[in-house]
Amino acid sequence: MRQHDSRARTALVVVAHHRNDSLTAHTARRAAAQLETAGYRVDLLDLHAEGFDPRMTVADQPDWGDREKRYSEEVHAHMQRVLDADAVVAVFPVYWLGVPALLKGWIDRVWNYGFAYGRSKPHLAGKRILWLGLAGATADDPIVAGMRSILETSLSEGIAYYCGFSHSTVGLLTDAEERPQRLDAEGNLLVGDAITGAEREAQYTAFDRRTGEFVEAFLAEEPVAA
Ligand SMILES: Cc1cc2nc3c(=O)[nH]c(=O)nc-3n(C[C@H](O)[C@H](O)[C@H](O)COP(=O)(O)O)c2cc1C
Repeated sequence: MRQHDSRARTALVVVAHHRNDSLTAHTARRAAAQLETAGYRVDLLDLHAEGFDPRMTVADQPDWGDREKRYSEEVHAHMQRVLDADAVVAVFPVYWLGVPALLKGWIDRVWNYGFAYGRSKPHLAGKRILWLGLAGATADDPIVAGMRSILETSLSEGIAYYCGFSHSTVGLLTDAEERPQRLDAEGNLLVGDAITGAEREAQYTAFDRRTGEFVEAFLAEEPVAA
């Protein structure tokens, strides 16, 4: 694995899943370990385990007349973690072609007006982000191209670049289900047999390899320190 000149750098790895034994949590741990190997200090933010409430509150609602608004203490603590990070890696299951409510609510409340956007010089300018989305769809499902396009538009264009990030990549990890699924022409969900034994292990190995490739490519695109 390539060594990067990133010893002093911090990566905020955000996990948006309700189960610690999920493939999503497993993938986040793999990504975190890879970042550490590359020299990053990792701040692992498990939104569910930390009890983050994705519901918008009055305290955290933007005030369009006051971009210096003091939001809740909880949100300011999260803002600090984002500020402290050179790179953000968000790991989540794709729900309805988007991010799950837990991650969406974190962005809604924390990436707030005056902090993440609304300034000619954004506080988040120059940061980099990798979105790792796990999708139940199989790689050959025709919906995957549209899914990738929707995620790139909403996450990279709609959120990351809008907030001044210098780089945003969506890594779509298909085949995340133990039982392959697809819709037939009539809209019925066809659920295949659960993969077991050596086949399941091979599936995990292939999954981990693809995760590793996304993280490696993300690290390789890192600008060289002056
Ligand atoms: C509410 C919900 C919505 C989902 N929407 C999609 C979807 O739009 N596309 C897709 O490929 N998979 C979808 N899935 C499947 C999840 O992406 C899949 O179960 C997950 O990535 C598996 O990872 P996990 O074991 O870590 O939860 C959905 C699952 C749920 C529960």
